[in-house]
Amino acid sequence: MAEANKRIFTGLQASGQMHIGNYFGAIKPNVDLFTESEGLFMVADYHALTSLKDPGSLRTNIIENVKDYLAAGLNLDNAILFKQSDVSEHTELAWIFDCLVTVPFLMQGHAYKDKVAKGLEPNAGLFTYPMLMAADILLYDTDIVPVGEDQRQHVEYAREAAAKFNLAFGQTFKEPTEVISKAVGVVPGTDGKKMSKSYGNTIPLFGTKDEITKAVMSIVTDSSGERPENVYAIHKLLLDQSGLDKIYSNPAVKGKYKLIKEALIEDLDAFIAPMRDRRANISDDDVKEVLRKGGEKAKALAAAKMAEVRQKVGVTL
Ligand code: ADP
Ligand code: TRP
Repeated sequence: MAEANKRIFTGLQASGQMHIGNYFGAIKPNVDLFTESEGLFMVADYHALTSLKDPGSLRTNIIENVKDYLAAGLNLDNAILFKQSDVSEHTELAWIFDCLVTVPFLMQGHAYKDKVAKGLEPNAGLFTYPMLMAADILLYDTDIVPVGEDQRQHVEYAREAAAKFNLAFGQTFKEPTEVISKAVGVVPGTDGKKMSKSYGNTIPLFGTKDEITKAVMSIVTDSSGERPENVYAIHKLLLDQSGLDKIYSNPAVKGKYKLIKEALIEDLDAFIAPMRDRRANISDDDVKEVLRKGGEKAKALAAAKMAEVRQKVGVTL
C-alpha cells in the first residue's frame, strides 16, 4: 500500500511556553508531516491531567499550544486537529484495554518508572497512561504513528493492546507501527546544556526582538576554541553552510563574539518574526473553532469504531 493510503495519527501533550528547542525537536517535524500527508493530530489533554491539576493552566496550555502550531504553519487541509477530551470514545476504549492488560505488564512502562523516579505522584492515570494512548491510536485504524524516541514503547503497548483485544473478541484493530522522527539532535540552551524550560536557558519561539536579544546575549561563550560553539549550534539551525561561512569564516568577524551574536539576533528575528506576526492574529475563538470542527470529524470516525467494539465485548444488547 502506498504511504498516501496509510492512516497517520500523532499527538502532543500540551505544555508551557514553547522555545526553539521545542520547535526544531517537535513542532517542525509535525508541521512538515502534515504538509506532506493527511492524518489526525490530537492534543492529549486527558493525558496532561495525569500531572497537571490546575484548570487555568490546562486551559491556557491547550489554547496556546494550538496557536503555536497554527502559527508555525500546521496545514489544516491535511490534519484533523482535535482534542482528546472532545471524543469520549478515547477514555471509554481505554477502560476496555485496562481490563485486558495486566498490572505487571504496565509496570514495565519506562515512562511511568521515569516519572515516578522524578517525584511525580504515582496516580492510577499515570500508570494506565499507555492504554489511553493505545485507545487514541487504535480507534482510527491507524497504520503509522510518528513520534519521538521516548514514545516508542507506548506504540508497542498499543500493538499489544490491539493483539490482546483481537485474540479475545475477534479481529477488530489494526496493529500500528511507530515511525521515529529523525532526530535534529538536542538543541542547546544559552548555557550549552539541553534547552529546556526547566533549566531556564531557553530562547522563546515567539519572543520579541528584545527577548531574543536578551537570550542571545546571555549565551555562554568559551574563548578557547575557533568559534563560540553554543552560538554556532543555534545558528546552524537557521543558515546553510555558505550562510554560516559568511559569518564564521569572515576575517572581519571571526573571533568577535559580539558581532557574531548580533548576527544571530538578526537571523533569529528574521526567522521568528513571520510566525510571531501570524500568531498575534490568531484569537482564542479561532482556536476553539478549529478544535470544534476537528472534534466533529474525529468523533464520527471514533463513534463508528466504538459501536463495533461495544458489540464485540457484549454490552450492546
Ligand atoms: P522541556 O524540556 O522544555 O520541558 P518538553 O519536554 O515539553 O520540553 O518537550 C516537548 C517536545 O519538544 C518533545 O518532543 C521534546 O523532544 C522536544 N524538545 C524539547 N527540548 C528540546 C531540545 N532542547 N532539543 C530538541 N528537542 C527538544
Ligand atoms: N504521549 C505522547 C507524548 O507525551 C502524546 C500522545 C498521546 C500521543 N496520545 C498519542 C502521541 C497518540 C502519538 C499517538 O508526546
